[in-house]
Amino acid sequence: MTNAADSELQSQNQPATELGAGENGRSILICQNVHCYRHRSGAVLAAFQSAALPAGVTVTASDCHGQCHLGPSVRIVPDETWYARVEPADVSRIVEEHLRQNHPVSDLLNPRLHTDYSAYYGQTGAAS
Ligand code: FES
Repeated sequence: MTNAADSELQSQNQPATELGAGENGRSILICQNVHCYRHRSGAVLAAFQSAALPAGVTVTASDCHGQCHLGPSVRIVPDETWYARVEPADVSRIVEEHLRQNHPVSDLLNPRLHTDYSAYYGQTGAAS
């Protein structure tokens, strides 16, 4: 296994408290590694940093999540909710629906990591 792969696995298995989440809070981890960065994860990070977040929520630029082909990847801990192909325009929905109302944004969920990905693929099962 390469060092990069080791790093990905280590990041995925780190406890939420080690990833910046407070005891009663959440942390938003936005991958800034090469593939996600090429797909505007820097703009996604900036959008989260400028958003009006609920108390106790932190924003962290992170290393690779191991979900490169579905980037920009956003992971919320300790919920362990993973979002895929996040655009800056999606940030307000994640903040309002997930962080304020506790309802993950189903059509942005990473289909590899969340079993109910029907919203992502639509009714027919075909990728959109
Ligand atoms: S580069 Fe972002 S998940 Fe790998």
